[in-house]
Amino acid sequence: MKKVELINVSKSYDKQVDVISNINVTIEPGEFFVLVGPSGCGKSTMLRMIAGLEEITGGTLKIGEQIANNLSPDKRDLSMVFQNYALYPHLTVQQNITFGLDVKRMKKDEQKRKAAEVASMLGLTDYLARKPRELSGGQRQRVALARAIVSETPICLMDEPLSNLDAKLRAHMRSEIRRIQRTLGITMIYVTHDQVEAMTMGDRIMILHEGKIQQIGKPIDIYNHPANPFVATFIGSPPMNLAKAVLDETTEELVVENELRIPVPGMERSKLPSHGMTVGIRPESILPLTPEQTGGVKLEVTTTNVEVLGNETIFSFHVGTEEWMAKWSGQWHIGIGEQLPVWLEFDSLSIFDGEEGHLIKKTVDQSHHVVQQEVVE
Ligand SMILES: Nc1ncnc2c1ncn2[C@@H]1O[C@H](COP(=O)(O)OP(=O)(O)OP(=O)(O)O)[C@@H](O)[C@H]1O
Ligand SMILES: [Mg+2]
Repeated sequence: MKKVELINVSKSYDKQVDVISNINVTIEPGEFFVLVGPSGCGKSTMLRMIAGLEEITGGTLKIGEQIANNLSPDKRDLSMVFQNYALYPHLTVQQNITFGLDVKRMKKDEQKRKAAEVASMLGLTDYLARKPRELSGGQRQRVALARAIVSETPICLMDEPLSNLDAKLRAHMRSEIRRIQRTLGITMIYVTHDQVEAMTMGDRIMILHEGKIQQIGKPIDIYNHPANPFVATFIGSPPMNLAKAVLDETTEELVVENELRIPVPGMERSKLPSHGMTVGIRPESILPLTPEQTGGVKLEVTTTNVEVLGNETIFSFHVGTEEWMAKWSGQWHIGIGEQLPVWLEFDSLSIFDGEEGHLIKKTVDQSHHVVQQEVVE
């Protein structure tokens, strides 16, 4: 197990604009670290710099205790699964999988045993004799994964390794990769633009936007306390609802989009700035109003769209110029254009500074604990 440390790392392809700027992060030994962000934000560039396939134009990269900026790729003790697989077209699946083991002088029958083991794990047993051109995209992707897994290097870099798989296989492979990583104690740096993958696989995740770090943390902490509106809308599906808000000093209410008025509890007032803010609320925190409901802010919304997904119902409505979404568990009979009474509370709001964008008020913890009870037979 080795750590990977980036100190003020930046990258420019044209010596003018940085596509990656000032990255500071330490990936701990044995950690599953996920790098996530929209297309073009610099994920592959960062991974390729760690692999030694792309020059680092600023800062320092350390692998283990060694400065690695100028270390050749084969001396970095790592394996990589590329976004575009990079298989050898003239070699069979088996030869592609064991390619790196030849260099390590592993005995042929040992190589064969390992290839068979990993092929069975990834559902490739029937394809070992084929050439890459005789495989589907998803099968090729799994060959690339297999090659990285058999190499058993202390560090593994994966660039969107599951993007070509169907939903069921992807879910299966997510847990397989996690299991293999834990068993072998590999330090994993895993790139994806799929926030579900990031949430479910990562010990920690880093969110990158336009080459800059937005936030690093445990998935659940990022979900609960996103550092800025970008993270708030990137992690979570449907995304967090956002809207502009100001504080009405006389009524001590938060006025959202000139429409929705939310009373601010006494202790919270001093934390809020007198200039504009952005408020955010997760779709699951906008709740159905029941006759018993007392506290919170009630409002009547008009639905603009409804999706019933079997186990949950999602509907949209307008708050001023913004379209918000609510997510209710279960199946609800709701029509488009219908008026619905809903409620929400101040505690479930995230509030961001309107100018700087940083989080100024967090949501209050609403997680649950299982209460153990004796089962009477
Ligand atoms: N060889 C290159 N020369 C010049 N610019 C490049 C080169 N490679 C990448 N870029 C630019 O650098 C930025 C980051 O690219 P990168 O491939 O790292 O993005 P990414 O986050 O991996 O995106 P995706 O999710 O689409 O794979 C992009 O704006 C891209 O156009
Ligand atoms: Mg990429």
